[in-house]
Amino acid sequence: MAQAKKGDKQKGLGGVPITYIAGALLAAAAAAFFALRGRAHFTKGPILTPLKAPKVTDLLEFDAAYKDRMLWGSYRSGLYFGMRTRTPKGLVSGLMWFDPDDFQTLQQYRVRHEASQGDGLASYGWKRHDGRTYGQQVLVDNDYNITLSMLKSFGEGSGPGGDWSVRLQLRRTSGMPTQRRRISVVIYMGDEDTPREPWQVLPDGEVTDLRPQPAALLTGGSAALGRGGARWALHAMEQATEPPASRRSRGCRVDYLGMSTEGHKPDYLLKVRELLLSTMYERLQRQPPSDKFRLYLPNGATTNSDLALFQVTCVIPSTVDFAFTSSSGDVSDSSERLEGLLGPGLDGPLAAAEAAFDQRFDRVFGEGIARALQPQQQPDSAASPDASTPDAPDAAAVVETAKAALSNLLGSMGYFYGSSLVRTGPPGSEPAPYWPAPLFTAVPSRSFFPRGFLWDEGFHQLLLQRWEPALSRDVIAHWLDLMNAQGWIPREQILGEEARARVPPEFVVQLPWHANPPSLFLPIAHMAAQLGRAQQQATDGTAAASDAESAAELERVRAFLRRAWPRLAAWYNWFNTTQAGPLPSSFRWHGRDPLAASELNPKTLTSGLDDYPRASHPDDSERHLDLRCWMALAAQAMADIGTSLGLPAAAVARYAAAAEQLSDLRQLAALHLDQGRGVFADWGTHTEEVALEVKSIVVPGGEGQPPQRRDVSERVTTGWPQPQFVPQFGYVSLFPLIMRLLPTGREPNATASAAATAATAGATAAAGGAALTLQQLQLLTDPSLLWSEHGLRSLAKTASLYKKRNTADDPPYWRGQIWINVNYLVLRSLSYYARHGSPEVAAAAAAAHDELRRRLLRTLVGGYKRQGYLYEQYDDESGRGTSSHPFTGWTALVTLIAAQEY
Ligand SMILES: *[C@@H]1O[C@H](CO)[C@@H](O)[C@H](O)[C@H]1NC(C)=O
Ligand SMILES: *[C@@H]1O[C@H](CO)[C@@H](O)[C@H](O)[C@H]1NC(C)=O
Ligand SMILES: *[C@@H]1O[C@H](CO)[C@@H](O)[C@H](O)[C@H]1NC(C)=O
Repeated sequence: MAQAKKGDKQKGLGGVPITYIAGALLAAAAAAFFALRGRAHFTKGPILTPLKAPKVTDLLEFDAAYKDRMLWGSYRSGLYFGMRTRTPKGLVSGLMWFDPDDFQTLQQYRVRHEASQGDGLASYGWKRHDGRTYGQQVLVDNDYNITLSMLKSFGEGSGPGGDWSVRLQLRRTSGMPTQRRRISVVIYMGDEDTPREPWQVLPDGEVTDLRPQPAALLTGGSAALGRGGARWALHAMEQATEPPASRRSRGCRVDYLGMSTEGHKPDYLLKVRELLLSTMYERLQRQPPSDKFRLYLPNGATTNSDLALFQVTCVIPSTVDFAFTSSSGDVSDSSERLEGLLGPGLDGPLAAAEAAFDQRFDRVFGEGIARALQPQQQPDSAASPDASTPDAPDAAAVVETAKAALSNLLGSMGYFYGSSLVRTGPPGSEPAPYWPAPLFTAVPSRSFFPRGFLWDEGFHQLLLQRWEPALSRDVIAHWLDLMNAQGWIPREQILGEEARARVPPEFVVQLPWHANPPSLFLPIAHMAAQLGRAQQQATDGTAAASDAESAAELERVRAFLRRAWPRLAAWYNWFNTTQAGPLPSSFRWHGRDPLAASELNPKTLTSGLDDYPRASHPDDSERHLDLRCWMALAAQAMADIGTSLGLPAAAVARYAAAAEQLSDLRQLAALHLDQGRGVFADWGTHTEEVALEVKSIVVPGGEGQPPQRRDVSERVTTGWPQPQFVPQFGYVSLFPLIMRLLPTGREPNATASAAATAATAGATAAAGGAALTLQQLQLLTDPSLLWSEHGLRSLAKTASLYKKRNTADDPPYWRGQIWINVNYLVLRSLSYYARHGSPEVAAAAAAAHDELRRRLLRTLVGGYKRQGYLYEQYDDESGRGTSSHPFTGWTALVTLIAAQEY
């Protein structure tokens, strides 16, 4: 993550009537919103204008038919479940649930809607999701166990975007004391646009029963579904699971509310939970006090409704299906299709979709996982009795975790539309809006980071592109199209009011001189390699009898890279110019604050590694090792793309030259090898003599509040900062290995001797390139440094800042915790050296690879089973998941780790 942690926004009631709170919240939000808009007159410089180049999202493969199939999806990343259209102004739906008989529902806002750690669900997440048409999610909320299945279908006569079904199986959690008898689920539909025609709430009249026939809840028409075919309908049906005798008494009841949000967009849609609570509260107040406590919607709708909520209240266990149908003509056309969209008719399609997903998973990853988990057949140790290591996770658990990881990455994908806020002037100046644009992207975490992050996305796509290359290209295309005329892409994308509502204001503004690792070059390089391999095979005549499908796929990859080329060139150039370091071919993350008086070590948010220790006194003389290595990757990728596209030599030569320069071991060593300690490091003005002093101060309370005590921190420097290598060993030190810049030991002699001279003074590299690599591998596997029982920790145990807080409020983040993205990159590199290294290097790399992989699988698979989630990071001592969860962005790389796909 490239962002300091944010508090989960939880609001309490504190005795104030909910109607008042909801009203006040709405008014405040509206005021802030309009104030922002009111000040919007800016001159558009290159910062605020898009790069002049054809858009990648306009490629032929993303044509109208593709867009139609992708129109609907579970694209509201920040909710437990919500469907929306991939249009700037969406037709949206969402799900909420609560106990209608519990006073605490009101008192504690106990209505589930936005995915939140504060809700304390034992677990939730997609068990299956294909990113396109099918998903299955299990949500365990105390004694409620909800299984949600989503299926899109394109039946005959269905309109733009097709139809979709949602099945909710409402059960009791096994092993929990049964406190709750009933559950209310609320499904709502809203329109961010002005509806094309009036919605009809309960078009066939009041609904008393959801059996045995489906009931029509809502019909409407929306521009989001296209010009001609904009009509749609929502139906619901309860599954008759009980014996007929008890039918009457156990039917679900339906309550509703329909209202107009005209003049209040988008606030009502954002505050739908507050709206629900306040209207139920009003209804409760109208009841005679003697009545039982029951929470129901008031059952009323205005004629011009464009937001409608349906509360379905059932005794558990029950199963309720919802079906959304769209129609090119009259909606009544859909009545025949309905039979297969809910009720018993949905059983077959859901079972088939589940089986199809499992089969496809097996084909893409499952077989690889099974192969990789087989005990190594070593000729001389075949008789060894403990061939299967006792603590190796069992295959079924690995597959289950890998499936859930992939599914959550896919099921959390979001569609956002809006403008970043960008500061173009000096600190304190008013930010200006970027041009409004769409972003289709995976997200790191539904609860904590439900929006796009640039450097996370490069890792997400490594997994996604193996599952479905077209989907992955679609995402990368959206990101590249966010590039401005200078070649900059904002690193955190907070687009649209729904995304912005979840980010504290101080984190919203993006700075156009701030970078973030260009990790998108990882999946892009993978594409270039694919193309290069195909070309090689074509020239060698070794190409397999190429079927038409793979030829067409290669053609799409080629078209994509060709279209992306000018943007990638602009991006490279932006890094090469704005992030250049003090010496030739050195680089520096800009944006560190030399005046950060409260931070033990001023953060480097731009590097993605936030509080990872760098030079203690930021200045222009800094050289950052990780950025230089990222640039080596980018340059090599550019050279490979250019070559694979057959671009003119003149266009490719500069990147080939840059790649050669950046991978030149002599230069790398001169800039970054701390000979004395034999480690690669940053360079800068630094002293170890710094400490954090935490003081308790008294601050004035707010209106009518007493003064409060608060801890504040101040950094105290007692040493004299000197230009030097920064003596902190951690993830940054591994980057030459990670980016495969160390010798394999098989280089022709010229390179090897260059490597030998690279370290004239150091004994480490004196014996040639392989010695340096072996020595770095030794550092990697030294348990007193980064090598822990549970994976590679981010900072050595011996480092002075290991597990140190950065301020009174910032606990350690990249200071010892285990992060999966970097662990994956290390495995990927070890696998490379195991294949390409000299015998000695290969043996050492293979041994490290196998052991690290085994430990990571044990940590991730075991943690998922025990803790119910995948996590943002893992503790290097206990192996427990820590920080945000579910975190199924780059932690989902567990799937590739299990399958040994690098
Ligand atoms: C929740 O329901 C699912 C589906 O029936 C089941 O597999 C799972 O074990 C249940 N979980 C708990 C904790 O009850
Ligand atoms: C990167 O910048 C350096 C220094 O200005 C320049 O010499 C080099 O050509 C640039 N590389 C590319 C690929 O543009
Ligand atoms: C590299 O050097 C060694 C001896 O130092 C020699 O035996 C070998 O033939 C050389 N290899 C090449 C490719 O020049």
